[in-house]
Amino acid sequence: MSHPVASPSTAAPAQRTVLVTGAAKRLGREIALTLARAGWRVAVHYRDSVEEARKTVADCSKLSGASASFRANLANETAVRNLLPSVLEKLGQVDAIVNSASTFEHDTPETFSFAAMEKHMRANAGAAILLSQALHAHLLTRAGASGAVVNLLDQKLWNPNPDFISYTLSKAALESANTMLALALAPHVRVVGVAPGLTLTSQMQTPEKLDALHRLSPLGRASTASDVAATVAFALENQSITGTTLLVDGGQHLMKPARNVALP
Ligand SMILES: NC(=O)c1ccc[n+]([C@@H]2O[C@H](COP(=O)([O-])OP(=O)(O)OC[C@H]3O[C@@H](n4cnc5c(N)ncnc54)[C@H](OP(=O)(O)O)[C@@H]3O)[C@@H](O)[C@H]2O)c1
Repeated sequence: MSHPVASPSTAAPAQRTVLVTGAAKRLGREIALTLARAGWRVAVHYRDSVEEARKTVADCSKLSGASASFRANLANETAVRNLLPSVLEKLGQVDAIVNSASTFEHDTPETFSFAAMEKHMRANAGAAILLSQALHAHLLTRAGASGAVVNLLDQKLWNPNPDFISYTLSKAALESANTMLALALAPHVRVVGVAPGLTLTSQMQTPEKLDALHRLSPLGRASTASDVAATVAFALENQSITGTTLLVDGGQHLMKPARNVALP
């Protein structure tokens, strides 16, 4: 018995576009390049790092065609609300967003202020929620379209200590939003958290200190930037994952230090 054979479609599928926030440098740049290597067209968001954003755009463009950069202060609601429309105007469609940009300033319960809390909440939680809302609204205008949001979290949520209280509260809010957004925006938008361990040096450690901290992890290593980026790519591809978080940290979240692992 012969079976009907579907004739292959002649129309090439449209190239998928991802907006990566904070993509000028560090983890955001690594994520942008990894996604470009996987064929995604990348909208590079940045705030102050103009030159670095230009370089990320040039490098992504070589890998997967026309990339572009978009400037926005994510603590400013109007700027956040204008971001996705700007990307749509320039690139035509958006299929996914990676919320990697993050304000990360030190405070403790002793120095905590509403100002610090608000600054972190706006940029780290509020902006990611508004961008998810905007992606959902955009996908509803495209028949049959679905997409995904990946929110960068932090192993620290599973391993809390009093340092960086405003940053940590903002990431905790984003982790809760992950669940609420996954429920509210399904089936059109999947929402996945990726929680790195201490991955890159900051102003608080030398590379040697970072290496030593990595060796203290249960796996004797922490996350590399490429581990984190590969997990983001996986979360964007796997069509069954939503409302959960993948921890990529060499097991750091299983440790219970009294202070932030990056501090002396
Ligand atoms: N690096 C790590 O070891 C580590 C560990 C755990 C979790 N994470 C998470 O992984 C993500 C990426 O980490 P990272 O170290 O690459 O981040 P990062 O260097 O601290 O910040 C990334 C970018 O965020 C942008 N940004 C900060 N405040 C902003 C604002 N108000 N509006 C717009 N952009 C703003 C900055 O862009 P401009 O430079 O253009 O101003 C900055 O370059 C973050 O969400 C972080 O919480 C990182």
